[in-house]
Amino acid sequence: MPPGKRQRQRRRGRQEESREQREMAPPPHQRALLLFPLVFLLLAPPRADAWGKEGHIMVCKIAEKYLSEKAAAAVQALLPESAGGELSTVCPWADQVRWHYHWSSPLHYANTPQVCNFKYSRDCHNSRGEQGMCVVGAINNYTEQLYSYGQKTSYNLTESLMFLAHFVGDVHQPLHVGYEDDEGGNTIVVHWYRRKTNLHHVWDVSIIDTEIKDFYNKSMDTMVEALKTNLTGGWSDDITQWENCENKRATCANDYAIESIHYSCNYAYKDVEQDITLGDDYFFTRYPVVEKRLAQAGIRLALILNRIFDGDKVDDIPLQVQ
Ligand SMILES: *[C@@H]1O[C@H](CO)[C@@H](O)[C@H](O)[C@H]1NC(C)=O
Ligand SMILES: *[C@@H]1O[C@H](CO)[C@@H](O)[C@H](O)[C@H]1NC(C)=O
Ligand SMILES: *[C@@H]1O[C@H](CO)[C@@H](O)[C@H](O)[C@H]1NC(C)=O
Ligand SMILES: *[C@@H]1O[C@H](CO)[C@@H](O)[C@H](O)[C@H]1NC(C)=O
Repeated sequence: MPPGKRQRQRRRGRQEESREQREMAPPPHQRALLLFPLVFLLLAPPRADAWGKEGHIMVCKIAEKYLSEKAAAAVQALLPESAGGELSTVCPWADQVRWHYHWSSPLHYANTPQVCNFKYSRDCHNSRGEQGMCVVGAINNYTEQLYSYGQKTSYNLTESLMFLAHFVGDVHQPLHVGYEDDEGGNTIVVHWYRRKTNLHHVWDVSIIDTEIKDFYNKSMDTMVEALKTNLTGGWSDDITQWENCENKRATCANDYAIESIHYSCNYAYKDVEQDITLGDDYFFTRYPVVEKRLAQAGIRLALILNRIFDGDKVDDIPLQVQ
């Protein structure tokens, strides 16, 4: 890996760490008490970037509702016991193992050379130049592995499912297909209202948090219900188009990445510069994009899982709400 890049990656690690510290900083009178655990926090690996937990959970809660009976049964069979039978509980998992499975870190995103299009052959690789090591390659990889469900396989299909469910979410977060130079917005420092953060984090977490707080009575479940309601209402005519995927066996993750870089250019990066303060103007014009991407990710994750586990059915009938 070129030295410049290694430095950037280290910088990213530090930034995340300091963000975590900020978010977890206790009031001054408690600081001394908490010093001991804080030391461990500093030693702990930095938190990974991706839709925050909420984003991933919401994507998977939507997907669960659109699974066919057979696909839902296969998912149940693959889920670890700790999931309590719910796919959504394991959807943040890939972020938790990102530093332990170090090789998986580049699978959460793809970067372009500061252009508003995505080309697999040019952009889908890790820092060592290994082809396919990006979010698009990963979605196809884990989809392919899951096709061996029910046969003898050397893959841990529980992990394949947990990776797949996470990466389908990630590829829909616009800035997970962003510019290489700013690491998908990670190096663009901004203020979200009064709080200092970075542009990537605004799209992973802040917009969703602000919505949940301001629109949905501080309840993620209320937001999920609103998204589901829109899927049967305003968006119902769009679903067929979201599901359109000529690629019969691999996924259409390549198309989803192309959509994301367009949203990055037209919404995420637009009118943003270092140290800018983003508030109502930005929030009210961008949150509809976030909502749409969460809904699309949920629908498409269900589509992929239905094809894998219930293939014969999916080609002739449109996805049905269970
Ligand atoms: C495919 O999955 C295997 C098993 O987890 C992993 O070792 C490999 O790096 C993955 N490749 C891609 C492109 O996702
Ligand atoms: C498969 O992966 C899960 C999650 O990492 C792990 O808990 C489980 O033990 C693995 N199963 C096997 C057979 O290795
Ligand atoms: C908001 O949530 C609280 C409990 O968290 C509940 O008492 C209240 O009725 C809710 N308000 C609305 C408008 O749903
Ligand atoms: C649902 O649709 C309405 C009307 O288009 C929109 O105002 C609202 O933000 C949407 N809610 C969600 C959660 O998508």
